[in-house]
Amino acid sequence: LPDHRRRLWGRADVERTLPGREAHSHKGSHGKGLVIGGSRLMPGSVAMTARAALRSGAGLIAVSTDSEAIPAISPYVQEATFVEGENGGRVPDLGGYDGIAVGMGLGRNSMQETVVERLVREKETPLLVDADGLYLLKGFLGELKNREVPTVLTPHPGEFAHLTGLSIQEILRAPFSYSKEFAEKHGVYLVLKGPSTIITGPDGEQRVDVSGNAGLAKGGSGDVLSGILLSMMMQTEHVMDALSNGCFLHGSTADLLVQDGHSKVDLLASDVIEGLSRTFRTFS
Ligand code: APR
Ligand code: MG
Repeated sequence: LPDHRRRLWGRADVERTLPGREAHSHKGSHGKGLVIGGSRLMPGSVAMTARAALRSGAGLIAVSTDSEAIPAISPYVQEATFVEGENGGRVPDLGGYDGIAVGMGLGRNSMQETVVERLVREKETPLLVDADGLYLLKGFLGELKNREVPTVLTPHPGEFAHLTGLSIQEILRAPFSYSKEFAEKHGVYLVLKGPSTIITGPDGEQRVDVSGNAGLAKGGSGDVLSGILLSMMMQTEHVMDALSNGCFLHGSTADLLVQDGHSKVDLLASDVIEGLSRTFRTFS
């Protein structure tokens, strides 16, 4: 990595920048997050995002989803609250949160597009957009520059191809340059996921996370990452540190689990959520 504005993010960096837990802290100190997504046929996605955010230290998590999906989600995240909004719970009141994550299992219809549009125009809350949210975001890319708080996009190469109009092959040939070009153009933080994950800031700064293994190549891993990142964003002032640390926690938990207790074959995204405790315990 010859460019000095591009570097590998490792354990020592995480040790230096990971937020601790003050003795006198209360739930408000660790962020109140909103997770928007999930649907009748995809309830697991937001259950995992919300649970991963709480397992990563978030103080409070609210979930906005289809009313029909709530009974399937709540047993997996007893600590979460649910918000009802207009449109059957889909366009919630966006005020009062320290961070919002949207898109996991959301679906891709016009009503959900309206949610994404409103979020892009909401300028006070840091926003993370993943999965279906990225598909719906395409029409509003030009407006992202107007947001006054951080916007984080977390595509895998297929989603990044959709956002840019490039092919997956083109992206994989020059992931650093396309990431940088996109992040600078739209004023966003971009987390381009893969066996190595590239984190790019709106100023073009880049970091690489090489933790993780093929056990993560299973549906749900991305939903877990979104929850970890939302939590880190709410607890860390410096967004690049928050995102880099989140990617490291996700990948290194998977690494720990396949060395002890699991294999790359059987590992589930939900195991990664429960395994986070082991990784956090290695940072004092
Ligand atoms: N080595 C290391 N890390 C990996 C590997 C690997 N071989 N494979 C995957 N990962 C990590 C990625 O870095 C990323 O953090 O696992 C996560 C996978 O995230 P996604 O690609 O978003 O996968 P997934 O969780 O299955 O998301 C499914 O995304 O494509 C949409 O519509 C789809 O809603 C669905 C969702
Ligand atoms: Mg995904």
